[in-house]
Amino acid sequence: MIIFTMRKMIIAGNWKMNKTISEAVELARAIKQSEKVEVIIAPTFIALDRVNCELHYSTIMLAAQNMYFEDQGPYTGEVSPFMLKDAGCTHVILGHSERRHLLCESNELINTKVKCALKDDLKVILCIGETGEERNSGRTNEILECQLKTDLKDVTDLNNVIIAYEPVWAISGQDPNHKPATPEDAESAHQFIRSKICEMYGEETAKNLRILYGGSVKPDNAESLLSLEDVDGALVGGASLKPETFNPLIDVAEKYSQ
Ligand code: PGA
Repeated sequence: MIIFTMRKMIIAGNWKMNKTISEAVELARAIKQSEKVEVIIAPTFIALDRVNCELHYSTIMLAAQNMYFEDQGPYTGEVSPFMLKDAGCTHVILGHSERRHLLCESNELINTKVKCALKDDLKVILCIGETGEERNSGRTNEILECQLKTDLKDVTDLNNVIIAYEPVWAISGQDPNHKPATPEDAESAHQFIRSKICEMYGEETAKNLRILYGGSVKPDNAESLLSLEDVDGALVGGASLKPETFNPLIDVAEKYSQ
């Protein structure tokens, strides 16, 4: 039996530090547009503007992979929300585990960025998730709760927030033993996240919040993950780098969108 969700599915591609500008444009051109599913792609900063031109008449939306929390000023090497909007971004990914763990971003810093992005009208894809060690010591829920509470501190409205549950142990490239979460693990984490959001923001907000799963999503496991009741789409790394592995994920999501 297919369970339709009232929440519109999202398939988001996080291209990480991959693709030259011309390769990014070529990939953007090959991605399937969808009426039923929100498709979002996140190229590197330097490719955003050119990819945005390519997407001019497209339903595909553009995200940045990070941002700084000021609109302008003496912040060498940083990019502001204001600049991202100018380059055509509607969304920004914040709190990705590669930034948390490789670049030491704290929950407090992520919270500052979340508030700044929302103030500047960017939609936030907030990534949360536990490491393998935290999971093995039975601390998954504690970590998720702490990330939600700190990253969303003083955020009063979640209309423009999407949560991505990305267990660090499942992300390809980060853990040599990575493997996707089982559908049971994913559903239980998603239910936990929704229940915490319900406590923090009330039932209506929790019911409408889109929670994506991320970590080794591929065409061969997409059905088992995207068919779950509390999974409203996927944030995809490796499989987003080729149309032949990304477009099938959109097809699967369409099946579960009304
Ligand atoms: P992956 O990455 O799909 O390659 O595991 C997911 C992510 O980091 O967002």
